[in-house]
Amino acid sequence: MPDIAISVHELSKKFGDFTAVDGVSFEVQRGEVVGYLGPNGSGKTTTMRMLLGLLRPTSGRAQVLGFDIEKQAESIRPLVGYMSQKFALYEDLTIRENLVFYAGVYGMRPDDYRPRVQDVLALIGLSGRENERAGELSGGWRQRLALGIALVHSPQLLFLDEPTSGVDPSARREFWDLIYTLTERGATVFVSTHYMDEAEHCGRLGIMYNGKLMAMDTPSALKGSQLKGPAWNVVADPLIPALDALSATPGVHRAGLLGDHLHAISLGDSHTAESLRSALIARGFADAIVEETEPTLEDVFVELAGR
Ligand SMILES: Nc1ncnc2c1ncn2[C@@H]1O[C@H](COP(=O)(O)OP(=O)(O)OP(=O)(O)O)[C@@H](O)[C@H]1O
Ligand SMILES: [Mg+2]
Repeated sequence: MPDIAISVHELSKKFGDFTAVDGVSFEVQRGEVVGYLGPNGSGKTTTMRMLLGLLRPTSGRAQVLGFDIEKQAESIRPLVGYMSQKFALYEDLTIRENLVFYAGVYGMRPDDYRPRVQDVLALIGLSGRENERAGELSGGWRQRLALGIALVHSPQLLFLDEPTSGVDPSARREFWDLIYTLTERGATVFVSTHYMDEAEHCGRLGIMYNGKLMAMDTPSALKGSQLKGPAWNVVADPLIPALDALSATPGVHRAGLLGDHLHAISLGDSHTAESLRSALIARGFADAIVEETEPTLEDVFVELAGR
């Protein structure tokens, strides 16, 4: 078995004149959880569909589990699981019947799928509820069943396309616990998202923007390498005039609102907490409080999107 689960080289997809995926290159090692973060229309689903052999690339090449996505797509499909962004469940079938149906689609025989379906039900937390109709499941549980369906044939590699969109934060966290459980059992996961908090959970993270892969690294390495300087939290009153003052301060690269305070990135070593505070005091914000803070993935995203 190759150690590299996904290998992508200068992969592009055009629809007419429009380039949806633009020269993307990356690798995913076995056992990794790699996130693919990007806004709507940035090319996440299009990348996944090419890797699954569902869409022909315009140019470039890629291998999944050692197989060429164009020439050997048939060999890839039984080895991978795909939870589509717009997945469909059979609403009239029970939870168990949905899993059994898809096991059949993958050519599993009853002796194989019976124990597997029990395992998957336990994994997704639906043991004991297997006779409920899928149509009656609430948001987070529908998502878990869709993941179970993607897992039923014991794939080595999972493609999850925005698997938690539309579910509440606690269901999202539980879904991520499930993803970690899968990787502990040896699966590799490639997961798209547009949630910054979710992106923090990924071992490595690719950032897509306008079809381009802007960067791919661990969340902490992205924060360490992609920003122009340190990040600051600023408390000052009133907030909006303080934001204007902070933005206008020389050496401040970017400033914005973050909840009830301000968050800024300064350029290189142009500022200390004390020098930023002095700048604000000079502009009439006598009670300003400035503290250095961890940059966020949103800082990284905004920086990359601005390039
Ligand atoms: N079959 C198609 N024909 C024409 N344009 C397409 C087609 N599929 C996708 N696109 C366009 O390609 C771009 C990228 O789409 P894609 O679905 O890959 O984005 P995405 O990152 O998955 O977005 P989202 O977060 O909304 O799911 C979009 O502008 C989309 O409209
Ligand atoms: Mg998509």
